[in-house]
Amino acid sequence: MKLSTINSPFAQLRTLLDGIPPGGEPVDMTIGAPRHAMPGFVAQVISENEGLFMSYPPIAGHPDLQQALQDWHWRRYPVLADVITAPQNILPLNGSREGLFSALFIAKGRKQFGKQPAALIPNPFYQCYAAAALAAGCEPVYLPCDKDSSYLPDLDALSPALLDRTAAFYLCSPSNPQGAVAGKEYLEKVIMLARKHDFMLFSDECYSEIYSGLPPKGALEVARGMGEIVGVDPFLNIITFNSLSKRSNVPGLRSGFCAGDAGFIGEYMAFRNVACPQIPLPIQLVSTQIWSDEAHVDNSRKLYRLKFDLADSIISDCFNYEKPKGGFFLWLNFSEIGGGVKAASTLWKGFGVKILPGAFLAKNVSGEKNPGEDYARVAMVHDIDKTREALEHIVKLI
Ligand SMILES: Cc1ncc(COP(=O)(O)O)c(C=O)c1O
Repeated sequence: MKLSTINSPFAQLRTLLDGIPPGGEPVDMTIGAPRHAMPGFVAQVISENEGLFMSYPPIAGHPDLQQALQDWHWRRYPVLADVITAPQNILPLNGSREGLFSALFIAKGRKQFGKQPAALIPNPFYQCYAAAALAAGCEPVYLPCDKDSSYLPDLDALSPALLDRTAAFYLCSPSNPQGAVAGKEYLEKVIMLARKHDFMLFSDECYSEIYSGLPPKGALEVARGMGEIVGVDPFLNIITFNSLSKRSNVPGLRSGFCAGDAGFIGEYMAFRNVACPQIPLPIQLVSTQIWSDEAHVDNSRKLYRLKFDLADSIISDCFNYEKPKGGFFLWLNFSEIGGGVKAASTLWKGFGVKILPGAFLAKNVSGEKNPGEDYARVAMVHDIDKTREALEHIVKLI
């Protein structure tokens, strides 16, 4: 399959809405770019360190950034205190996307597979996973995530033969688009499978700091609780990916990390050192401060909660609405009015509100219904007033 056949959901939406005038002041609720305030110190720290743009940055990260990332893990997941350390277990990335892409090359090279290696991908999914699979020569195997499977891949449906030839399993929790969160038992089970069949669990946790109830579990946190075998890496076969993009409302900063299995991190760091871009030093230094500050994250989370409360009251029991456990998307079922594509074009035409059809985020697998077909994703990234108005338009679709 040609890499160019991976069509961005946003490009598909542009084609769908091409030539249709918006029925009101346009409000874009498609893209997962947060619009809450970013921390106030960002510009100042970058400008104070602008001279460092003249130096090539270290791939393993500035010592201050390493320390901040380690501290963040110890704070967010107390069971990881004294256990996870940088640079052994933590590697800075230019946002999580470039890691989710390039780490698969290392996962694929870890062992001889005999057959074509597989990359397991939840369906619907973040498109980068499929691009990585195709670029790395892995077969993308799409795992349906629907209401019946609590919007996570059904682990019992995976055959041992498939798991034996799996290079990596992409898990997204909190999930984009559905906002599902993998609990402790689910994570334990997938970690056990990763170890039994020796594949990498790539746990995409970039929405981990946006949640309504309890903080979502992290894969490394759960692994740590599974008990330790002396001399064996507690994070064996697990890599998590996270970034400042959603947590701190700075998707344009391009700053994230991956963490976990020390052997994997070492190999991946060596590969990155010759193949991947480092993070500019002023960005590393401002990232240090952003990871060290939780006040802005609390404020942002509170604002999301207020908006989800609005959705509770406005969307209420329409469109099979369920408050997402994490992340900032609504995943609404529009089957009553003809599905997500129809809903998106009607809403644009009627009110100028742009939402993303779920079918564009999912893969058509032959013999199966596209798991996104009935749905559309609504990004709750705007301010309260704009969000309220858009939600009121959405319920008029009934
Ligand atoms: C599920 C998921 N993973 C990863 C990313 C990449 O984010 P970033 O590269 O900004 O960290 C996104 C961005 O939208 C996403 O939705």
